[in-house]
Amino acid sequence: MKFKIGLAIISLHFFGNTQNPLFIPDTLSGNTIQLTIQEGQKQFFSGAATLTYGINGEFLAPTLILNRGQQVSLNVSNTLSDSTTIHWHGMHVAPENDGGPHTPILPNSNWNPQFEVMDWASTYWYHPHLHHKTNQHVQKGIAGMIIVRDSFEEAISLPRTYGIDDIPVIIQTKAFDSNNQIIVETALDSMVMINGTINAYADLPAQIVRLRLLNGSSERIYNLGLSNGSDFTLIGTDGGLLEASVTLNRLKLAPGERAEILVNLVGLNGQTLYLKSFGSELPNGIYGAAQPGMGAGQSIPNYNLNPLNGNDFNLLQVNVVGTTAEPVLNVPSNLVTHNPWQEQNAAQTRTVTFSPVNMGPTAINGPFVFDMMPFDMMMINHTIQLNDIEIWTLQNNTPIAHPFHIHDVPFYILDINGIAPPPELAGRKDVVLVPGGMGTVRFITRFEDFSNEMVPYMYHCHMLTHEDGGMMGQFIVSDPNSSITNHSLDAFTIYPNPTFDQLILQTSQNVEKVEIINQIGKIVLSIHQPKNNSISLVNVNPGSYFIRVTLDNQNKLTRKLVLE
Ligand code: C2O
Ligand code: CU
Ligand code: CU
Repeated sequence: MKFKIGLAIISLHFFGNTQNPLFIPDTLSGNTIQLTIQEGQKQFFSGAATLTYGINGEFLAPTLILNRGQQVSLNVSNTLSDSTTIHWHGMHVAPENDGGPHTPILPNSNWNPQFEVMDWASTYWYHPHLHHKTNQHVQKGIAGMIIVRDSFEEAISLPRTYGIDDIPVIIQTKAFDSNNQIIVETALDSMVMINGTINAYADLPAQIVRLRLLNGSSERIYNLGLSNGSDFTLIGTDGGLLEASVTLNRLKLAPGERAEILVNLVGLNGQTLYLKSFGSELPNGIYGAAQPGMGAGQSIPNYNLNPLNGNDFNLLQVNVVGTTAEPVLNVPSNLVTHNPWQEQNAAQTRTVTFSPVNMGPTAINGPFVFDMMPFDMMMINHTIQLNDIEIWTLQNNTPIAHPFHIHDVPFYILDINGIAPPPELAGRKDVVLVPGGMGTVRFITRFEDFSNEMVPYMYHCHMLTHEDGGMMGQFIVSDPNSSITNHSLDAFTIYPNPTFDQLILQTSQNVEKVEIINQIGKIVLSIHQPKNNSISLVNVNPGSYFIRVTLDNQNKLTRKLVLE
């Protein structure tokens, strides 16, 4: 059966080669933005229409154009029959505005995050993040680009006319069944789509053109280059412009990553070239290479049937046409100033170890976990002090490379397998591809501006099947001025935990209030100045909770509590 689906896809891939004009998503900007998540249908092929999801349309989502420093209010209406969330990938927002799995938008309801745009000018994106459903919701079509502008970017002579010389390029591959419906979980993702367009072409002017590349695919890594062999110029990565332009011939782009490149089309009027992925050059151990695992004999079911794996293929046909009125004709060399955090100022180091759940030749099929534990909504994996600079070591003990992503803050890569990053990876990042086979990456960041004792931020593999399969963890950013610092927590004990009907608080401090809070943040029990620091839980149902203790000095602490 699976084999039959594979053949159907392969035949569509070879027969459906008429070129279609690249779809350019509409833009939305301003202080109030309405986003309506909806079901739709799209005629990708002859025959049955494909059932899709989209925002303000049948498929994909409008491009949001925001200015650093502006206030924005996003009203997100979910008209699906399923819950979902919307996460502003790469943006520095408070955890309650971040749209992670703890902030579901129920069917027929709204979510209205409001925040100041604090990010550097760059390309970000938004997509669902409901645990176990992220891949499904993204694959069905919910994904949009966010362009942030600022005065530093504006001061540089760069192409910035959206859809004309500044082009959104959302790269995705999908699989379709013989009834033209999207298959969510399969290695047969052989249909390439740019902004939802199959076999896309764009007429671009004979001048410097900016491509905002976003890998919105579930799993695939692209090895980008131009069919005419020309170099291109990288000007920005995930979280901002680089310090200086970097001339490249190839660029790897993993799921979740963004890159802004300048392509020099000066003098090419009338010519046709292609943005391609040179998959044949990807080293083994990367999803998209001839072998997804580092060693032979490790493969993913159906992986070898997919004509994209280990091969070169076109992403976007570019037909070069006449120039625009005020063309950009030169590539700027100096861009913006960076002040990366210094290793000697790090207050904390942490290690996240990636491992397969199953050992042996099937290890590559996943699931994969961090620190030997699958993601647990009720487990806070790390508590970080607000304003701390931290160094994280990512240790990949699996046979395949994983794109690691962290919410809240951009980071700078310190080294990859012990070697300082090449210039194309030296800018602000929020996704990094961690090499397989005992590969390591170290990065440095600072957890500034936002703390919340109740709502965590996520870190995860951005291969969406891996994320949904549990390759995710969460952290709380805690403000030492509003809660007890970590070391003084050691003198505070709550036992037993798990418990049945009674809890004892062991502390020398005076307890002002104890609250038991359920998974959606509702207080189910609140007790003032408990006698003998003993709490009866006879009226609370079994389940997972948080216990929040407020001391008489107004310090608060929160812990996970399990009732049996
Ligand atoms: Cu783009 Cu947590 O995700
Ligand atoms: Cu994110
Ligand atoms: Cu992964």
